[in-house]
Amino acid sequence: MKTTLRVNDTVRTIDVDDDTPLLWVLRDELSMTGTKFGCGRAQCGACTVYVDGEPMRSCVLAVKHVGDRPVTTIEGLDGGVADRVQEAWKSLQVPQCGFCQSGQVMTAVALLSEIPKPSDAQIDAAMAGNICRCATYDRIRQAIHQAAGAGRPAPGTPAAGRPAPGASS
Ligand code: FES
Ligand code: FES
Repeated sequence: MKTTLRVNDTVRTIDVDDDTPLLWVLRDELSMTGTKFGCGRAQCGACTVYVDGEPMRSCVLAVKHVGDRPVTTIEGLDGGVADRVQEAWKSLQVPQCGFCQSGQVMTAVALLSEIPKPSDAQIDAAMAGNICRCATYDRIRQAIHQAAGAGRPAPGTPAAGRPAPGASS
Protein backbone atom coordinates (compact mmCIF):
# COMPACT_ATOMS: atom_id res chain seq x y z
CA MET A 1 0.00 0.00 0.00
CA LYS A 2 1.09 3.59 -0.50
CA THR A 3 2.57 5.17 2.60
CA THR A 4 3.91 8.64 3.16
CA LEU A 5 6.84 9.23 5.49
CA ARG A 6 8.73 12.34 6.48
CA VAL A 7 12.41 11.41 6.51
CA ASN A 8 15.11 13.98 7.18
CA ASP A 9 12.61 16.77 6.52
CA THR A 10 11.62 15.40 3.13
CA VAL A 11 8.23 13.83 2.44
CA ARG A 12 8.62 10.45 0.72
CA THR A 13 5.92 8.20 -0.69
CA ILE A 14 6.59 4.48 -0.89
CA ASP A 15 4.58 1.45 -1.85
CA VAL A 16 5.20 -1.32 0.69
CA ASP A 17 3.36 -3.73 2.95
CA ASP A 18 2.53 -1.70 6.04
CA ASP A 19 4.12 -4.34 8.26
CA THR A 20 7.51 -3.71 6.63
CA PRO A 21 10.07 -2.60 9.21
CA LEU A 22 11.15 1.01 8.83
CA LEU A 23 14.76 -0.18 8.44
CA TRP A 24 13.99 -1.89 5.15
CA VAL A 25 12.01 1.06 3.88
CA LEU A 26 15.00 3.30 4.55
CA ARG A 27 17.54 0.95 3.02
CA ASP A 28 15.68 -0.71 0.17
CA GLU A 29 13.06 1.83 -0.84
CA LEU A 30 14.81 5.10 -0.07
CA SER A 31 18.45 3.98 -0.58
CA MET A 32 19.51 5.34 2.78
CA THR A 33 22.02 2.67 3.68
CA GLY A 34 23.68 4.48 6.58
CA THR A 35 21.27 2.74 8.94
CA LYS A 36 22.47 -0.84 9.39
CA PHE A 37 20.91 -4.24 9.94
CA GLY A 38 22.60 -6.13 12.76
CA CYS A 39 20.36 -8.46 14.72
CA GLY A 40 16.84 -7.63 13.54
CA ARG A 41 15.61 -8.14 17.10
CA ALA A 42 16.10 -4.77 18.80
CA GLN A 43 19.19 -6.12 20.54
CA CYS A 44 22.21 -4.42 18.95
CA GLY A 45 21.35 -0.80 18.12
CA ALA A 46 22.84 -0.82 14.60
CA CYS A 47 19.50 0.28 13.15
CA THR A 48 18.91 3.24 15.49
CA VAL A 49 17.04 6.20 14.02
CA TYR A 50 15.00 8.96 15.64
CA VAL A 51 11.24 8.91 15.37
CA ASP A 52 9.80 12.18 16.57
CA GLY A 53 13.18 12.88 18.10
CA GLU A 54 13.37 9.66 20.09
CA PRO A 55 15.93 6.93 19.36
CA MET A 56 14.17 3.81 18.15
CA ARG A 57 15.15 0.44 16.68
CA SER A 58 14.00 0.65 13.09
CA CYS A 59 14.39 -3.11 12.56
CA VAL A 60 11.34 -3.82 14.70
CA LEU A 61 9.27 -0.72 13.96
CA ALA A 62 6.65 -1.46 11.33
CA VAL A 63 6.18 1.43 8.97
CA LYS A 64 2.48 1.53 9.82
CA HIS A 65 3.41 2.59 13.36
CA VAL A 66 5.51 5.54 12.22
CA GLY A 67 2.53 7.50 10.96
CA ASP A 68 3.21 11.18 10.44
CA ARG A 69 5.98 11.34 13.01
CA PRO A 70 9.23 12.68 11.52
CA VAL A 71 12.10 10.25 11.03
CA THR A 72 15.75 11.30 11.29
CA THR A 73 18.51 9.00 10.06
CA ILE A 74 22.28 9.26 10.22
CA GLU A 75 22.15 10.95 6.80
CA GLY A 76 20.04 13.76 8.25
CA LEU A 77 22.10 14.32 11.39
CA ASP A 78 24.00 17.59 11.35
CA GLY A 79 24.58 20.74 13.28
CA GLY A 80 25.31 21.44 16.93
CA VAL A 81 25.84 18.34 19.02
CA ALA A 82 25.89 16.09 15.96
CA ASP A 83 28.81 17.97 14.43
CA ARG A 84 30.79 17.79 17.65
CA VAL A 85 30.12 14.07 18.00
CA GLN A 86 31.18 13.33 14.44
CA GLU A 87 34.34 15.45 14.84
CA ALA A 88 35.23 13.63 18.05
CA TRP A 89 34.58 10.26 16.37
CA LYS A 90 36.99 11.21 13.60
CA SER A 91 39.69 12.73 15.76
CA LEU A 92 39.78 9.73 18.10
CA GLN A 93 39.42 7.26 15.22
CA VAL A 94 36.58 5.50 16.98
CA PRO A 95 35.35 3.25 14.14
CA GLN A 96 37.06 -0.04 13.36
CA CYS A 97 34.97 -1.99 10.85
CA GLY A 98 32.42 0.79 11.23
CA PHE A 99 29.34 -1.36 10.98
CA CYS A 100 27.83 -0.37 14.31
CA GLN A 101 28.94 3.23 14.24
CA SER A 102 25.97 5.03 12.75
CA GLY A 103 23.86 3.54 15.53
CA GLN A 104 26.48 4.50 18.10
CA VAL A 105 26.56 8.08 16.82
CA MET A 106 22.77 8.35 16.83
CA THR A 107 22.62 7.21 20.44
CA ALA A 108 25.55 9.41 21.49
CA VAL A 109 23.97 12.52 19.96
CA ALA A 110 20.68 11.75 21.69
CA LEU A 111 22.52 11.35 24.99
CA LEU A 112 24.42 14.63 24.67
CA SER A 113 21.28 16.45 23.61
CA GLU A 114 19.67 15.36 26.87
CA ILE A 115 22.73 15.47 29.14
CA PRO A 116 25.39 17.90 27.86
CA LYS A 117 28.12 16.61 30.18
CA PRO A 118 27.39 13.01 31.06
CA SER A 119 29.39 10.99 33.58
CA ASP A 120 31.02 7.69 32.67
CA ALA A 121 28.10 5.90 34.32
CA GLN A 122 25.56 7.91 32.32
CA ILE A 123 27.46 7.21 29.11
CA ASP A 124 27.66 3.51 29.85
CA ALA A 125 23.95 3.37 30.68
CA ALA A 126 22.92 5.27 27.56
CA MET A 127 25.19 3.31 25.22
CA ALA A 128 24.56 -0.14 26.73
CA GLY A 129 22.10 -1.12 24.01
CA ASN A 130 24.56 -0.43 21.19
CA ILE A 131 26.77 -3.44 20.60
CA CYS A 132 30.18 -3.22 18.93
CA ARG A 133 31.84 -6.43 17.79
CA CYS A 134 35.12 -4.53 17.46
CA ALA A 135 34.91 -3.44 21.12
CA THR A 136 35.37 0.27 20.52
CA TYR A 137 33.62 1.05 23.79
CA ASP A 138 36.53 2.89 25.46
CA ARG A 139 36.99 5.18 22.47
CA ILE A 140 33.26 5.78 22.23
CA ARG A 141 33.27 6.92 25.82
CA GLN A 142 36.30 9.18 25.23
CA ALA A 143 34.69 10.65 22.13
CA ILE A 144 31.48 11.43 23.99
CA HIS A 145 33.47 13.23 26.67
CA GLN A 146 35.36 15.14 23.98
CA ALA A 147 32.14 16.15 22.25
CA ALA A 148 30.43 17.08 25.53
CA GLY A 149 29.67 20.69 26.22
CA ALA A 150 27.10 23.41 25.89
CA GLY A 151 25.64 24.01 22.50
CA ARG A 152 22.43 23.96 20.63
CA PRO A 153 20.83 20.51 20.30
CA ALA A 154 21.01 18.67 17.02
CA PRO A 155 17.95 18.86 14.78
CA GLY A 156 15.51 16.02 15.31
CA THR A 157 16.65 15.17 18.84
CA PRO A 158 14.44 15.33 21.94
CA ALA A 159 16.18 18.47 23.23
CA ALA A 160 15.54 20.24 19.94
CA GLY A 161 12.00 20.81 21.11
CA ARG A 162 10.08 18.06 19.42
CA PRO A 163 7.28 16.52 21.48
CA ALA A 164 7.95 13.23 23.18
CA PRO A 165 6.85 10.21 21.19
CA GLY A 166 3.75 8.36 22.18
CA ALA A 167 4.95 4.89 21.33
CA SER A 168 8.17 2.93 21.08
CA SER A 169 7.13 -0.26 19.34
S1 FES B 1 19.34 -4.49 13.82
FE1 FES B 1 17.91 -3.38 15.01
S2 FES B 1 18.65 -3.55 17.03
FE2 FES B 1 19.96 -4.86 15.87
S1 FES C 1 33.31 -0.80 14.78
FE1 FES C 1 33.05 -2.85 14.12
S2 FES C 1 31.19 -3.49 15.05
FE2 FES C 1 31.61 -1.58 15.95
